[in-house]
Parts: sequence; C-alpha cells; structure tokens
Amino acid sequence: MTPGPLHLAGDAWLVRDLPTVAQSDGSAGPARLHANAMVLAGEEPVLVDTGAGADRRGYWAQVEALLDPVDVRWIFLSHDDADHRGNLGEVLDRCPTATLVAGRRLIHRLTLDRELPTERCRWVADGDVFDVGDRPLLAVRPPAYDLPTTRGLFDATTGVYWGADCFGTPVPADIADVADLDDDVWVEGFTAFHLLLSPWIRDVDPIRWRQAVGRVASLGATTIVSAHGPVIRGPQVGRALDLAFGLAGASMPAAAERLAAALARRFHDPAVGGRI
Ligand SMILES: [Fe+2]
Repeated sequence: MTPGPLHLAGDAWLVRDLPTVAQSDGSAGPARLHANAMVLAGEEPVLVDTGAGADRRGYWAQVEALLDPVDVRWIFLSHDDADHRGNLGEVLDRCPTATLVAGRRLIHRLTLDRELPTERCRWVADGDVFDVGDRPLLAVRPPAYDLPTTRGLFDATTGVYWGADCFGTPVPADIADVADLDDDVWVEGFTAFHLLLSPWIRDVDPIRWRQAVGRVASLGATTIVSAHGPVIRGPQVGRALDLAFGLAGASMPAAAERLAAALARRFHDPAVGGRI
C-alpha cells in the first residue's frame, strides 16, 4: 500500500517510499532502507529530488496529493544517483514550467542522457542561495556523500534541512520518525550507513570533518531529512549531529564495520536498484 506524504513542518512534506526489504544474506541487522524525496508546497512549489523510479506510482500519488504538477516551479536535484533522479524525466515532462536546480557538473552529466533546454536549468554552487518566490533556499553540501556534485538544501522558513544521502540509517521496519527507533539500533545503523556512503570517513582529517558537520549544525535546522532514513526532529537533531561529529577520528566499532559490509551486499545490489 502506498503511504501518504508525511508532514515535516510548515509546507514541507516528505514523499515517502516504503523501505525496501533487501534479500536476506544471513547476516544480522536492519534490512530496510528508505528512498524518500521531499516537496515544499509554497508559493512556487519545489520538488526536492524525484524519488526512485521503481516506485513511480507511489511517488506521483503523494506529489499529486499535495499539488498539481503543472504548478511546480522548481526541481532541486541533490545528485544524480538513480534513487534521486528516478522520476526526473517524467517530472520534467509533467512540470513544464519548472526550472531544474542542481550543481553544474551534475547538469552536464544529465545532458548525456536527455536534452535539457538551458532556460530550464539553473546551476547552484555549494553555498548558493536561490529564491523560490516566498523564501530563499540555501544549497549546502552535507558532510557525507558519494558523489562530489551533491548539494543538500536548507529551508530557513520551515527549519528543514534536506541532507540527500547523509543522515540516513537502515531500519528494521517501516519507521517514519527516528524517535521510534531504538537508540542503539540508530547509533550502529547510522555509523554503518555513513561508512558505506562515504568510506573516506575512515581517513579524513577529523578537524576538517568536524568543520563540515559544524557547517550544517550552524544552520540551526529543527528537522533533518535524509532520503535514506526516518525523519529527525527536535531533540533528535542534536543527537544526529553529535553522531555525525563522532564519525571521524575514532576507530570504528567492529559491529558497525560488519553491518556496513552487510549493507553493501544488500543495498548495492542491482536487484534493489542500487539504493544508496
Ligand atoms: Fe541515495
């Protein structure tokens, strides 16, 4: 059954994807992973990422519950992995007056697959602000990512930060809010997920890493949303940032390393669409 969109704050909504259950490989640990997208249903509606193509029907059912696609004015694409640009072709067709906002290199890569009229594209660098009618939005790269073109998005009006892949965690069941996840499951899953997403965390300068996390912390977000995890709200935001701060410069727990390896077997599998 397709879930409805989940309210985040103000006019920000999560377009949910029921967490995919990976094929069991005999190893323990959470076996489900979200692939969410987001909508800002303001004066000039914004689609934030376009979901995974495998769930096209569920994606559109939720978007259309919030707005008429022809009214969409902006499509923000965090990066061009298949689980984020899955419905991009249809979105461009069904939202004919929308402008695609993304990193310059990302747009160049997309043009290898599809003709993109330049008047429908706008480049944003890390740290750029763009206006969407009733508010400015800030593109801020998350600290962890698997493509260098990745941009996160901060909406000061709702207090929501879209972290793209970052701040995700696998879940044992369809859990929408991280407050409903056992803390030890969150800590281990969060650590393992980020080791899988950005293996270079093991080698990064801890000072530089903390600066990158601190840049997101300084936004003052009250809600953090990842494509790949439950929503992080209120007091859990500080907890998530603390977990992120602690990822670099310390030896990784063996259990998290084992879980990261298991997640790689499960979610880098083409059968689930390379869901990270
Ligand atoms: Fe992803």
